[in-house]
Amino acid sequence: MRALLFTILLTACTTTPSDSEFVVQDGDFTDLESWPHWQISETAMGSFHTTGPRIVYLNRKPTVDATVFPVGTILVKTLLNGSGDTFAMVKRGGDYNAEWARGWEWLEISKESGQWRIVWRGDQPPEGAGYTEEGVSCNLCHAMARKNDWVQSKVLHLPIP
Ligand code: HEC
Repeated sequence: MRALLFTILLTACTTTPSDSEFVVQDGDFTDLESWPHWQISETAMGSFHTTGPRIVYLNRKPTVDATVFPVGTILVKTLLNGSGDTFAMVKRGGDYNAEWARGWEWLEISKESGQWRIVWRGDQPPEGAGYTEEGVSCNLCHAMARKNDWVQSKVLHLPIP
């Protein structure tokens, strides 16, 4: 009986929301400063998102034969313009955001008292996040990098050495 209960509990925990999905949590960002990272200064377009020096972090590099980033990939970009604005895209997988950046979830995170926390998350930024007003969104701008699994930075063009 106890074994059955355990199995039911385990199944309930591991199948939410889908077997193959990775749902990132605050704690997954804890040691991001120690991940592989690159400082970049590409100026593809004049948005505050792409102006000034910035750092891109990747939790783990895909294998050299990968044509897409695997489920569980976390990418973070911090602006070094003093604002501390930090964005993330996480390969959640499944049918998430299927009409646009398939499998990718968009986030803004922020460091408070030494701890990274998710400010917002979703298949698009919420109203008032400073993107929808400009008529551009994470999905729309990153569609330019559709061929690289929606990831923009040149240093992150697959395969990553
Ligand atoms: C104006 C176009 C534009 C918009 C809007 C935009 N991005 Fe980006 N993003 C880029 C470019 C270009 C890069 C490549 C690095 C750079 O030049 O800063 C990038 C890089 C990133 C990266 C690092 C991984 C990568 O793709 O290189 C993350 C994470 C990211 N953006 C998240 C977001 C999120 C979240 C949103 C929506 C809130 C968003 N971006 C909206 C253009 C955009």
